[in-house]
Amino acid sequence: MCRPTYFAVDYAINPWMDPTAPVDVDRALAQWTTLLETYRALGHTVDLIDPIPGLPDMVFAANGATVIDGKVLGSEFRFPERAEEGPAYLDWFATRGFVTQEAKSVNEGEGDLLLTDRYLLAGTGFRTDLHAHAQAQELFGRPVVTLQLVDPHFYHLDTALTVLGGPAGIAYLPEAFSAGSRKVLRQLYPDAVIASEIDAAVLGLNAVSDGRRVVLPVQAVGLANQLRERGYEPVGVDLSELRKAGGGPKCCTLEVRA
Ligand code: ARG
Repeated sequence: MCRPTYFAVDYAINPWMDPTAPVDVDRALAQWTTLLETYRALGHTVDLIDPIPGLPDMVFAANGATVIDGKVLGSEFRFPERAEEGPAYLDWFATRGFVTQEAKSVNEGEGDLLLTDRYLLAGTGFRTDLHAHAQAQELFGRPVVTLQLVDPHFYHLDTALTVLGGPAGIAYLPEAFSAGSRKVLRQLYPDAVIASEIDAAVLGLNAVSDGRRVVLPVQAVGLANQLRERGYEPVGVDLSELRKAGGGPKCCTLEVRA
């Protein structure tokens, strides 16, 4: 995770961002700290990367890399505003002894590359490109399933789909995907939790699950109830200040699969 010391919304690279609306950095810091403490209370280990001045979106650690089996695929950001985050995250891993590979094309890390027990689900349409899907499949040796995103509000796969593990496998918003990708998701995950647009609109699908406990935005009340009915334990956190940049719990979290 990366502390939002320099968090701001002073450019707009997705429809959630309004540079004219005020942002309360202290509030963002407090909300982020609660997320960090929530993970620790659940028994997870959290490592931190130092934030860099001038990179207000660096708090969204999910975009910094993709880490599977101790191998790290670096990120290359679509927009120049975030370009310097890629090397910063890759350095963090390289200095800690991980095997790293630089991105060869636009790749926004776990924003678009989500690992399930069988596949690497890979979003495209707004940020990560198809070459990155191929690079990830080759590096990790996991079957990549390309999914086409169609709604600019759900510009990263992790805003439209949550990997839950457990009986449902995933939760997702069908409306965020092309017709073909919806068919693919229905085939692969017939028991998936289908989220409502109301819950997706508070970034409810931007969640982190350990297979049972699901850390999600506290505003996603309907989704929390659906999860409870399916045997999961929803853990609500309020990240409303970071949502002004288009991010939620999952965006703030890069999973290090050593
Ligand atoms: N403002 C950031 C951007 O548009 C938000 C990134 C959110 N991260 C995520 N994993 N969805 O790039």
